[in-house]
Amino acid sequence: MQYPHDGRIHVGVFSRGSMVDYRITVLPGDGTGREVMTEAARILDAISESTNLGFEQTIIQCGGQHYLETGQVWAEGSYAVCRDESDAILLGAIGWPGAKLENGDMAGGEVILGLRSGLDLYANVRPIKLYEGVKHKIHGNFSQQWAPDKVDLVVLRENTEGLYHSLLHRSAASAQGLAEYEPPELEFPGLHGEVAWDPRPISKFGSHRLIETGFRLAGRRNGNPDGETVVHCVDKSNVTRGCQLFRKTFDEVALTHPEIKAEHAYIDAFTMWLVRNPEWFDVVVTTNMFGDIVTDLGSVLQGGMGMAASANVGDEHGMFEPVHGSAPKYAGQNKVNPIASILSVQQMLGWLGRRKNDEALNNASRVVDQAVAEHLSEGKQVTYDLGGSATTEAVGVAIAARVKAILSEQ
Ligand code: IPM
Ligand code: MN
Repeated sequence: MQYPHDGRIHVGVFSRGSMVDYRITVLPGDGTGREVMTEAARILDAISESTNLGFEQTIIQCGGQHYLETGQVWAEGSYAVCRDESDAILLGAIGWPGAKLENGDMAGGEVILGLRSGLDLYANVRPIKLYEGVKHKIHGNFSQQWAPDKVDLVVLRENTEGLYHSLLHRSAASAQGLAEYEPPELEFPGLHGEVAWDPRPISKFGSHRLIETGFRLAGRRNGNPDGETVVHCVDKSNVTRGCQLFRKTFDEVALTHPEIKAEHAYIDAFTMWLVRNPEWFDVVVTTNMFGDIVTDLGSVLQGGMGMAASANVGDEHGMFEPVHGSAPKYAGQNKVNPIASILSVQQMLGWLGRRKNDEALNNASRVVDQAVAEHLSEGKQVTYDLGGSATTEAVGVAIAARVKAILSEQ
């Protein structure tokens, strides 16, 4: 299926049987985001074709590239579609060279950050799992530095405050047509000349709900590769007040989950331990910018950004996206790895399944994971980032076929 790029909202209905069960809004965004979302949609189609689940896909073109092409980040009314007419949102990638708004903010921030903030998607859930058969490139050569059973953790990044707070609020205000948000002005003793700054507010409320989500997730998992159920609080509380509040809140939440081990780590030391001993980690909770940075680092342990999936979830809404960006260098070349997007679909199905109490969705989520795992462990076609030369489409088609095959055998 090809997505049209003309700035209007396009609706595609793909359903089997007489009912459309779930409304999925697809935001392809910029560059390779468009290609990987085609493969994500292919997985949904495969599920619809082999089960009674029906997905209505509303495709909305958006992002920086779209802004340069049309003068608009997305069509009028798009935010309301995401808020009011979506059971879940799938996002490709946002960000395009040279695409800036008049105020200097990235064009497309309204989409990714506007939705994270506006829909209160406070937990950015980023699994770091090394599938069997995946080679990664720590030393510049493809090798298997860690056995697959050494890397299986989830980082929960706070998604609505911290160092992103101002931009999140400007983006959400713009998405909702509200007045532009500006942080307060301050004087900084000892600094001279032009100064730019970003406040980093951290609230107890925001920390609490993220950390609580982390402990609940740990309770559903089987522990770290060493078999230990543990939540790590990753912060810089030896330096910043925001992190002190984050850690204090963590300690309070930990007391209410006595069956789960609670540990602390400073972010600087954590980056070292993550690379050296990934098997120590099960669930990690951290603040916004730290989570942004360590999940790019962590992706190397799972085969790179082409493997890193994520969920942005709140109490009412969910948006699912690969962690990677729009990769302008590879855009339009049918080259990048669609697995991060396919695993984002897998997270979406699991989240929707739990939320709607729908065992068919839970099963579809497990099947997508199984299809990816089998594809990789059997050494089937992979893209350049995993040492292969397959196209985006070839990998997507093969995994979709496997999803269908597994579902029809059930
Ligand atoms: C991510 C991205 C975004 C972020 C950018 C595109 C604003 O890097 O999802 O990690 O910084 O959160
Ligand atoms: Mn990032």
